Amino acid sequence: MLAALCGALGAGAASAAELMQAGVVSGTSVQVKSVAIPEPGADEVRIRVRAASVNPVDWKLAARGSAEGHIAGRDLAGVIDQLGPGVSAWKVGDPVIAVASSGSYAQYAVASVHAIAAKPARWSFNEAAGLPVVGETAWRAMVTVANVQRGQRVLVQGGAGGVGSMAVQIAHDRGAEVSATASASNAAFLRTLGASEVIDYHSERFEERLHDVDVVLNTVDPDIGLRSMKVIRPGGILVSVVGTPPADACTAAHIRCAITGSVTGQMLPFLVELANAGKLHMSVERVLPLSAAQQAWELSRAGHTRGKIILQIGGGRGAARDNAG
Ligand SMILES: NC(=O)c1ccc[n+]([C@@H]2O[C@H](COP(=O)([O-])OP(=O)(O)OC[C@H]3O[C@@H](n4cnc5c(N)ncnc54)[C@H](OP(=O)(O)O)[C@@H]3O)[C@@H](O)[C@H]2O)c1
Repeated sequence: MLAALCGALGAGAASAAELMQAGVVSGTSVQVKSVAIPEPGADEVRIRVRAASVNPVDWKLAARGSAEGHIAGRDLAGVIDQLGPGVSAWKVGDPVIAVASSGSYAQYAVASVHAIAAKPARWSFNEAAGLPVVGETAWRAMVTVANVQRGQRVLVQGGAGGVGSMAVQIAHDRGAEVSATASASNAAFLRTLGASEVIDYHSERFEERLHDVDVVLNTVDPDIGLRSMKVIRPGGILVSVVGTPPADACTAAHIRCAITGSVTGQMLPFLVELANAGKLHMSVERVLPLSAAQQAWELSRAGHTRGKIILQIGGGRGAARDNAG
């Protein structure tokens, strides 16, 4: 039985009996522990994780108590380590990005074939790990929901964060005139991403600068969403990733309000195409080892991440071979 399993796994793969290091939710913290390596099911692959990204939802789920005992994290970049039954489009050794179904703060994770894409060719694993959750959220907001068009005026609230920095670039690529709110220290960064106007929210109220905006993406908080309604033209759109705006306020402002829905990984190929065309860049503010996952959460909770915080993850069988890539 064991011999058959080892044969099926192939050279360089990990066996089911082995343990891995993973960041497990414990109360409102994340603790690195030894846990069993996950096995891919039908239409899933197992990935040896090279880097995982930190998203606010990771510590928000812990705060709500809905992730207790689970491996934290959703998105990652790594190398396919094992194919589950029925997978033929990928092979062991392929570098990929993914929305993991087993938790991404780990040496190994599994993901559905519908939630993976080839790693952007010129991006490092650290950069690539930052893309899935924030990239797909921004894509859903700017393309699927708002269908931003050339010449439209777009305001991204929280332009320097993970979601915001992706949304600025996607809207700019679609030919929109993009404004963003951020601290003054992030103004130059946002201009390099394509924002033509950056409003320092510490010293200025955006309502006094902007009007007749076609699309606002709110990545900050519900109050910013309510304030944003005043700058949207009648018939314009408020897209929120921080809660559903109250329907009566949307009606009174003569605007459409929408949310983006869940991140599934299905939009990843579109984002990789943009990245490979040089139209999408990832800003990694901080890289920490898996052992510092708790420190990464504290930095994320502070609410001033520029781009992404990444956990670089090493080890596991096949590491020496994969790390050469
Ligand atoms: N619904 C979904 O599917 C979904 C998906 C992803 C994320 N989210 C949610 O969306 C929110 C943003 O996520 P994220 O990953 O982008 O977070 P993040 O990277 O941690 O965002 C940090 C950024 O927020 C900016 N910021 C803070 N207060 C601001 C303000 N008052 N005005 C303008 N900018 C401000 C900071 O800019 P400065 O440093 O310049 O202050 C910083 O760059 C989180 O609440 C997250 O849970 C929802």
